[in-house]
Amino acid sequence: MSQIASKLREVIGRNLRKPEATLIGRIIKKYGLEKKNRVIELEAVRLCDVQPDYKVLEVGFGPGIGIEATYNIIKGGNGKVYGVDFSEEMVESATKRVNEGISNGKVELHHADVANMSFLKSNSFDRVFHCNCYYFWPDLTLAVNELNRVMKPGAVMVTTMNYERLKKIQSKGYFDKCGNIDMNRYLSALQSGGFQEVKLKSFKHESSGINIEAIIAQKLEN
Ligand SMILES: C[S@@+](CC[C@H](N)C(=O)[O-])C[C@H]1O[C@@H](n2cnc3c(N)ncnc32)[C@H](O)[C@@H]1O
Repeated sequence: MSQIASKLREVIGRNLRKPEATLIGRIIKKYGLEKKNRVIELEAVRLCDVQPDYKVLEVGFGPGIGIEATYNIIKGGNGKVYGVDFSEEMVESATKRVNEGISNGKVELHHADVANMSFLKSNSFDRVFHCNCYYFWPDLTLAVNELNRVMKPGAVMVTTMNYERLKKIQSKGYFDKCGNIDMNRYLSALQSGGFQEVKLKSFKHESSGINIEAIIAQKLEN
């Protein structure tokens, strides 16, 4: 029995990290990512203060809630939204959500790893965001350096999560084989990876009552 429970925890953890085209992957997408994480994604977009002419990147976009919200802001301007996610299933799901933006050239989704985004130009993004994601990156230094590379000097990166919920998930063993939520690892990777003004904000989202943690960092000016 405990072997089955441990296997189930492993499969759930694996699908949180990289959702698959399986029943468990689809349940996580529908009830976790599309429903529970929705406000976390929307808060990241709000904190980015996206302007219609901005070039914006989301990493680990999952089903595309944040990509869609960003597209709705930039579609009337000269901006463009890019997404990078290494789950084929998530790229497929987000593609359906923002099909209009992809067709009119305002959205570009890439099936790739944050650690290697060589197809994206250096010093080109005004805003970058990622939600519920950094703790799955095996090499935080590599990922943060790559994010820093694509950002314009002075550009801002936002990450949001519900840390309380993550601690619960971790305490039940779901991240044992696939992640490490320790926020200090991410904060120090930012500080040594060319970011300044690294700030952590904690607040309650008004209408949902969800506690949200946001880490906001600015790429060093030249
Ligand atoms: C827990 S889901 C979060 C999805 C969405 N951001 C949300 O908050 O609902 C983690 C997402 O990050 C993606 N991801 C994890 N590690 C990644 C990596 N190294 N490179 C690109 N995407 C990654 C996964 O495929 C998945 O879509």
